Amino acid sequence: MPLSQAVCVCLLLLAELPASLHRCVFDEVQARVRVVRAVQRSPIGPPGHTRTLQTPTGQVVSPSFTSPQPIRIKSWLSRESEHLSEPDKGQMMATVKEAVRMVSSLLSGANLLSTRAHTNRKTNIFFIVQRASSPLLLRRDINKYCKFLWKNSSTINYNRCGRANSNYRTETCLHVTIPDEHLAGCEVLPAADSTRRIVLRPHGTGLPDVDFLLYVHIQATDKCRAEPSLLAYAAHCQMDTRGRPLAGVVVICRDRLTKLTVPTVLHELFHVLGFSKDLFHTWTDCSFQQVGAGCSPRSKVTYSDGSGQMRIYTPSVILALQKHLAAVDPELGGPLENLDVPRGAVSSHWEARVLQGSIMLAVLDHSSPVHIDPVTLAAFQDTGWYTVNMSKAQSLVWGKGEGAMFGSMSTCQDNSSSFFCTGSGLGCHYLHLHKGECQNDPLMDGCRIYKALSNGSECWIKENQRKSPEEIFGLDSRCFFSSLTSLNQRQLLVTGRCYRHRCTGPNSYQIQVVDADWLDCPAGSSIQIRGYQGSVFCPDERLCLYSDATPPSQAENVTGFISRGQNNDLNGFSVLHFACSAHGPVAVTTLCCLSAAVCLMVVLRVAYRRCSPHCGVRIHAASGDV
Ligand SMILES: *[C@@H]1O[C@H](CO)[C@@H](O)[C@H](O)[C@H]1NC(C)=O
Ligand SMILES: *[C@@H]1O[C@H](CO)[C@@H](O)[C@H](O)[C@H]1NC(C)=O
Ligand SMILES: *[C@@H]1O[C@H](CO)[C@@H](O)[C@H](O)[C@H]1NC(C)=O
Ligand SMILES: *[C@@H]1O[C@H](CO)[C@@H](O)[C@H](O)[C@H]1NC(C)=O
Ligand SMILES: [Zn+2]
Repeated sequence: MPLSQAVCVCLLLLAELPASLHRCVFDEVQARVRVVRAVQRSPIGPPGHTRTLQTPTGQVVSPSFTSPQPIRIKSWLSRESEHLSEPDKGQMMATVKEAVRMVSSLLSGANLLSTRAHTNRKTNIFFIVQRASSPLLLRRDINKYCKFLWKNSSTINYNRCGRANSNYRTETCLHVTIPDEHLAGCEVLPAADSTRRIVLRPHGTGLPDVDFLLYVHIQATDKCRAEPSLLAYAAHCQMDTRGRPLAGVVVICRDRLTKLTVPTVLHELFHVLGFSKDLFHTWTDCSFQQVGAGCSPRSKVTYSDGSGQMRIYTPSVILALQKHLAAVDPELGGPLENLDVPRGAVSSHWEARVLQGSIMLAVLDHSSPVHIDPVTLAAFQDTGWYTVNMSKAQSLVWGKGEGAMFGSMSTCQDNSSSFFCTGSGLGCHYLHLHKGECQNDPLMDGCRIYKALSNGSECWIKENQRKSPEEIFGLDSRCFFSSLTSLNQRQLLVTGRCYRHRCTGPNSYQIQVVDADWLDCPAGSSIQIRGYQGSVFCPDERLCLYSDATPPSQAENVTGFISRGQNNDLNGFSVLHFACSAHGPVAVTTLCCLSAAVCLMVVLRVAYRRCSPHCGVRIHAASGDV
């Protein structure tokens, strides 16, 4: 094969590789965004402070509380978004809307005045604690429209704008220009001690019945181009006086529109709503809240534990993790990802060793399901801005009941937990939907886990059958550690095999192997089967216990999540995969080596990019009515 052809084949192969690994770039994006925060002009105070000059009334909050109300999130397609065909646009909008709908069904807030709860209360997960009664108006950045502020504190115009910046155009949220109608006006006070004012821009009309404005921006940005696996990124850009984010943008990479999933958008939305290291310090404590009394800022929520792991120490998070791990250790704050984070600094993601399967991991793996887990929901509860219906949490199978030390670097290699492995043998992914191989992972800090194999390892896909006559594939098949063999073999090798299963009760099931009857498989034990050598191990607390640990095909209908409410059914979520360990790039490399050295170099470059800590998904937000 001529060199040029070889290169072509190689590039094609690369293009076909599943981009299942998405590393979130939120922290990096958010760090470059200037967030505009509303300032509280106290109605009582020194002269000059009484006059509310520019109060965007949208954020005046009623001091009295009733029950929380469902959060109202408005998505707005940015005017700068690249043109989309109608089907593309429809699909993208459906994805964003579904993510927004799911959040609305999770978070909620309170305002006695509003009777317009447009969502069924029962379906809601998020409620907003303080719902503004007036239309949402975003602020203009005084540092942008103003050349200087009056700095004499005994004058009435203290800290107000003295001169207009003639270069001022408008406000932006990442790549999005905020429409004037969404913005409060601004004015200049030409004299320090005079009430005379010049209106620079009038107030916009604002957005009625909106608690959070999500700009959706579709573009092949430089960031998208630089990160081949990046699907979307986001940032928040405005917050109210209490530090609650009011507006943000999610940027969706134009050329990866078709790969966009609801979990990806949901993940970004969670960041801009408050799960962000830049917002941890503005989370508020409302536990002593009474009518008329406010909440107090938590100021600092992240601390290092004894081992150097940074954790979020807030009451609901601690409680949720203690409950999940069945431990009472008070050191059990929500562990934060340490990869690529300087010592002592924090990230906006959970530690993957401890909370595998959570929607808020730094890398989303689309090969297995991700869940809206109780610890993530507890974090939103602890923001003080939201009330969360915790009964909507999806189950977290990973680490359930494993104790306080679960997932620590010191214990993950000592064979004390069946969630981790040593060596590089074959076995089963922890959800038992896929066969897996014991592997390392960049996020795992040296701990090894059974990762789903990339080549036909799904037990629940019937089409995988042809490769293996000793197994049974199909919707009701699961992966089992097994050394079964029908041949007379001297050495029995334990590996992951697909057999059928059927539930007989919680954590109780039967299995069926080739040419055999259904047999009870008592959880936690191993069984032998007539006609076979070796045995099958029956996993404990993994099968027939969680309705949301089922094949994605049964969860295609994402909307089923909410309507099936009490099932806690998370099946609709796509799972994130750790692609760097996938066999794909290796196979491609081999192929290319045979063809041409040039090809190898290309592959290595791509493989490096895919696997380097910098590869991944980044997040932003955009505008335009979706
Ligand atoms: C919380 O969710 C549960 C289960 O879906 C539902 O029964 C309950 O009514 C919800 N509570 C609120 C306050 O919406
Ligand atoms: C500040 O303003 C007060 C009242 O107008 C004036 O008396 C005082 O001299 C000013 N101080 C400075 C440092 O300009
Ligand atoms: C854990 O188990 C593996 C396989 O059984 C064994 O090779 C390894 O030495 C064990 N490690 C420890 C620390 O016990
Ligand atoms: C899949 O990959 C594993 C590990 O490389 C290999 O052992 C196995 O034979 C492959 N399975 C199929 C069906 O190709
Ligand atoms: Zn993220």
